Amino acid sequence: MKQKILVAREVFPEVLERLRQHFEVDDNQADAILGVEGLKVRLADKAGALTAATDPVTADVIAAAPALKAICNFAVGYNNIDLAACSRAGVMATNTPGVLDDTTADLAWALLMATARRLPAAERWLRNGEWQGWQFIQWLGSDVHHATLGILGMGRIGQAVARRALGFDMKVIYHNRTRLPADKEDACRARFVDRDTLLRESDFLVLLLPYSPESHHTIGAAELALMKPTAHLINVARGGIVDDEALISALRQRRLAGAGIDVFEGEPKYNPGFLELDNVALTPHIGSSSRATRMAMAMRAADNLIAALSGQRPPNLLNP
Ligand code: DGY
Repeated sequence: MKQKILVAREVFPEVLERLRQHFEVDDNQADAILGVEGLKVRLADKAGALTAATDPVTADVIAAAPALKAICNFAVGYNNIDLAACSRAGVMATNTPGVLDDTTADLAWALLMATARRLPAAERWLRNGEWQGWQFIQWLGSDVHHATLGILGMGRIGQAVARRALGFDMKVIYHNRTRLPADKEDACRARFVDRDTLLRESDFLVLLLPYSPESHHTIGAAELALMKPTAHLINVARGGIVDDEALISALRQRRLAGAGIDVFEGEPKYNPGFLELDNVALTPHIGSSSRATRMAMAMRAADNLIAALSGQRPPNLLNP
């Protein structure tokens, strides 16, 4: 008899087809948000699940799923999973590193360029019929070329963001818990600096830290005060890393030139203060959202689940 699994969010039919070759699949193609209570009900008789960053796999959820052996996130971030509770219950947890680096780096750059050259506000202005004629002093933005790019969190995505800066002749500095080996630094011509130097010297600061209690509001009023008033902040990691009130206040008072934000604390809710600002580019958590990458993420999660439930070590096990 096939083992039962849950696919907690809508995925591509090809992914379900593949999973159905191995398992009895309970899908959620209607894409209802299950939440803690929904997951408890749907996981009660399941051996495994494919979950997204929006699915709260809490200790309560795990306790309500006695047959559960594996939770396979189709995301690189896994702050939605209580890893300690998984380990206590003998549940394997996996994520999808590596397959979304370039797509997420591309989006970081899209936001960086959009905020540097004020694209969202300029487009709104044009659409509103406010363009009365070309002017020499109009919609002046910030130059990206030759500027200093700072990266906080220099994992695979950070390095992919840094490599793209070579074409813009940028100076690249970074801060990370551990310094990269010299060959990796050389590959993206990035220089390790302490956190305060990163904040002080960056013209564009890209946040790529994993979210955890330690990184909660790691960028708050004090950190923003160290940044140049001409600087731009880009967040494609997790909303909770930034104190949104402090960021909005800095942007409103032009103590910071602009921001490109893809992730929000408490999303899909976001601080309405963002909408009052004309110096932000806002996107709804689409960092990895290209068809090819989302397919690769879901297929990688399926690989992990198939391995886990057939007694093999899944390639991206988080809690060995
Ligand atoms: C990730 O992979 O963590 C992205 O944010 C999508 O959830």
